[in-house]
Amino acid sequence: MSASTTSTNTIANNSSKSTGYTAENAALRTQGLIKSFGGIRATDDLDLTVKQGSLHALIGPNGAGKTTLISQLCGLMSPDSGQVFLYDQDITAMPPAKRVQRGLARTFQITSVFPEFNAQDNVAFAAQAVAGHSYRFWRPVAKNKTFQQQAADALARVGLSSRAAVTAASLSHGERRQLEIAMVLAAQPKVLLLDEPMAGMGGEESALMVELLQSLKTEVTMLLVEHDMDAVFALADELSVLVYGRLIATGIPSDVRSNAEVQRAYLGAAPA
Ligand SMILES: Nc1ncnc2c1ncn2[C@@H]1O[C@H](COP(=O)(O)OP(=O)(O)OP(=O)(O)O)[C@@H](O)[C@H]1O
Ligand SMILES: [Mg+2]
Repeated sequence: MSASTTSTNTIANNSSKSTGYTAENAALRTQGLIKSFGGIRATDDLDLTVKQGSLHALIGPNGAGKTTLISQLCGLMSPDSGQVFLYDQDITAMPPAKRVQRGLARTFQITSVFPEFNAQDNVAFAAQAVAGHSYRFWRPVAKNKTFQQQAADALARVGLSSRAAVTAASLSHGERRQLEIAMVLAAQPKVLLLDEPMAGMGGEESALMVELLQSLKTEVTMLLVEHDMDAVFALADELSVLVYGRLIATGIPSDVRSNAEVQRAYLGAAPA
């Protein structure tokens, strides 16, 4: 027990509970976040700081509470206690749509991909939705130059321009994931939450996604939840390890990787 506390403190540099808010360059931050489901503490007094301009990876075994955390960050789920800050603003009580308008977006929460519409129109709908309009006004969207231009730009950004006219239903799994990123980019996010973007992808598709996320690093701060360790170590500027709702380590990937407790709790047990 004491050994684990010591090793955590060696690496963790974001436990600001006693000292207050000191990370002046934090894009996204939680303080004392707690979320329980019955007897399970899925988020257990969590202090996490995602620095402005970084790609921060979050890893941990199945059921560690990664998705629960992402859900509280994007506002889909309310914490039992604690706070979420976007830049210096307390957004704990802010509804998801408002968070998106403030620049905090999440991929793969999008259930509103219209399979029968083409990639371009799907992104245009997303651009329109962020602008505060309802999806039901889809007719004008097809003709709206601003939204169509934003859509074309976002598709180009993710490398899907050549598939703009293809229906979402006809895209491959990897292309649909690219489309989802394009849809979220239409919101022009400052901070992007990604929950397992490589899930279900083959090696080639994963490599493309790594390339895409790498190219986004200069413009968007990202929190990436991912089981694909190759992707994590290729992309992450900072790495946090979550086990049973608690952060056992945070730091630069090479330091976290060599941490004995992390090895024991997660990395050592991860499939090769
Ligand atoms: N809506 C819910 N109701 C009850 N329990 C939940 C709910 N969501 C998550 N849990 C529980 O909370 C814990 C954390 O789950 P969560 O899905 O956040 O883990 P995870 O780290 O995302 O796992 P995975 O790597 O498998 O995606 C688990 O024990 C899970 O069963
Ligand atoms: Mg999950």
